[in-house]
Amino acid sequence: MMHGGEPAEERRVVVLISGNGSNLQALIDAQASETGLGGQIAAVISDQPDAYGLERAQQAGIATEVLPASSYKNRQEYDQALLRLLNDYQPDLVVLAGFMRILSPDFVIRYHGKLLNIHPSLLPKYKGLHTHRRVLEAGDGEHGVSIHFVTEELDGGPLIIQARVPVEVDDDETSLARRVQVKEHLLYPIVVRWFLQGRLQLQGNQPELDGQPLPKSGVLYQEEA
Ligand code: GAR
Repeated sequence: MMHGGEPAEERRVVVLISGNGSNLQALIDAQASETGLGGQIAAVISDQPDAYGLERAQQAGIATEVLPASSYKNRQEYDQALLRLLNDYQPDLVVLAGFMRILSPDFVIRYHGKLLNIHPSLLPKYKGLHTHRRVLEAGDGEHGVSIHFVTEELDGGPLIIQARVPVEVDDDETSLARRVQVKEHLLYPIVVRWFLQGRLQLQGNQPELDGQPLPKSGVLYQEEA
């Protein structure tokens, strides 16, 4: 609770990564920008010791932690260790930014309404891996990105926002992934800011923005002309 004159405590985010960390970088840049992120990135946790995102965090002066899967017997034990580690940082929000592990129900329930994921497809299409390749193989004219609250159903949680990306005739996996990532880097800071500013909430299984329920496919992001 805030009391008269006392500054509000800054909201804390922990970002989970496995690799390059370009989405993490977008969040770091947003935090450093004039608009800010609405809180601070308290730590970055990676399951991969050599994830480049760890270097990005260190360069920004953010605490880093490595939790390799090989040190644990099974998913349950890994996720319990991850929960203990997260507890040290007391996050208001946990952001999955290319964290390539499936989280156990215990974990997801503990952070219900406080756990976001970004996925490179227009969910519910193309859950899982290799989304760009599958879009090309299917001959789709349109691809995109989704950000959603995480629930027990893999890539199936309630959608917050989507952006569409047209598929060009000469696209390959790399070119398509690159254009999808441009949208990812635009969208993730927006959504994290909404959450940290208290504008975005999950009520039961229904996301609300400024008190209004979002449509089933989330907000459709459209760049200003
Ligand atoms: C991003 O494209 C993200 O959408 C994807 O991993 C990439 C991580 O890139 N996530 C998933 O596929 C989750 N199922 P980054 O490390 O450069 O942010």
